[in-house]
Amino acid sequence: MFETLKQQPADKILALIQMYRDDPRDNKVDLGVGVYKDATGLTPVMRAVKAAEMQLWETQNSKAYTGLAGDPAFGDAMVDLVLGGSVPRANVAAAATPGGTGAVRQAFELVQMARPDARVFVSNPTWPNHLSILAYLGMEMVPYRYFDEETRGVDFDGLIADLKTAKKGDLVLLHGCCHNPTGANLNGAEWDEVIKVLLETGATPMIDIAYQGFGDGLQEDAAATRKVAAAVPECLIAASCSKNFGIYRERTGLLMVVSADSSAQALNQGSLAYLNRQNFSFPPDHGARLVTMILNDAELRADWQAELEDVRLSMLGLRSQLAAELQRLSGSDRFGFIGQHRGMFSRLGTTPQMVEKLRADHGIYMVGDSRMNIAGLNAQTVPILAKAIIDAGI
Ligand code: LMR
Repeated sequence: MFETLKQQPADKILALIQMYRDDPRDNKVDLGVGVYKDATGLTPVMRAVKAAEMQLWETQNSKAYTGLAGDPAFGDAMVDLVLGGSVPRANVAAAATPGGTGAVRQAFELVQMARPDARVFVSNPTWPNHLSILAYLGMEMVPYRYFDEETRGVDFDGLIADLKTAKKGDLVLLHGCCHNPTGANLNGAEWDEVIKVLLETGATPMIDIAYQGFGDGLQEDAAATRKVAAAVPECLIAASCSKNFGIYRERTGLLMVVSADSSAQALNQGSLAYLNRQNFSFPPDHGARLVTMILNDAELRADWQAELEDVRLSMLGLRSQLAAELQRLSGSDRFGFIGQHRGMFSRLGTTPQMVEKLRADHGIYMVGDSRMNIAGLNAQTVPILAKAIIDAGI
């Protein structure tokens, strides 16, 4: 049977992890997979997560099944974190999923179930796994212009022109904040324009929000998602807790379906539960439970927010440091975009050959499209990276 299988392409982001591990050089720098690392290179368990785990160990007396959509308390806490009262809770169907990727996958399947011929508009570029999952599901993709190779900002005119070609029954996939892989984001006025186009075309937005709290702040990063959810008749939101709670391996995410009133909620909720049952039955609970405990306990929540804010500020500090060092070495402002980008990533905007050269000559690992994980840097490696970029002639 299995001799018919074809070799599948390795995930380009995950393949870097192994290449980096196999590299014997001790001055190597890992800017690959999107994982936060502190100044010592550790991806720490956050203090509030540890405290919640200890409480849970003391108090949890059963691991019997929750519900197909997970524990409703998790849904409530996360709907509040992401949507913050921008829409009535009764209009939101929500189901826990294995990580943000699980939410993305379930969202696409829901769309496919509702509209088998839906086209999915994806930013060019987007997170490669969006494309991979869509291709796996056999869904039609339409790229829309996003990254301006010249300015390393958003090609906003191109984006609007392309989104205007969407129709009712199409899905428009947007990154709520901290665009992955570019780090270039829309401002508030630009989001308003996008909403106008969504309302004109009748296309349904889907927002992937995987980095809330990593850009401009917990509330600020959710502002666009809230604005879209409140303005359009229907939208999908895939949220991840992997990054902002640092619980990557616990696989904790939530898919939300927001509708204009509460009448569609039961049907949407039932569809989400059905899809979970078909794919994995009950979603993982451990991470979701920790998140719920943290969000619902004033002390844990305050501590989590404080630590998350430290993480965010440290990434911003690394951005400024890198931009300043590049300005010093190049004698120009052409790398200023690194300070303007937000979130974990910045797209340097160079060729795959240059990315390969950085790896071969300097032990610097970034994704082939020149996406750098800023959180993989520290005060020691910033000057090493800056010098390598200039030495390579970028
Ligand atoms: C990334 O883009 O590096 C992260 O979202 C991790 C992943 O699963 O690719």
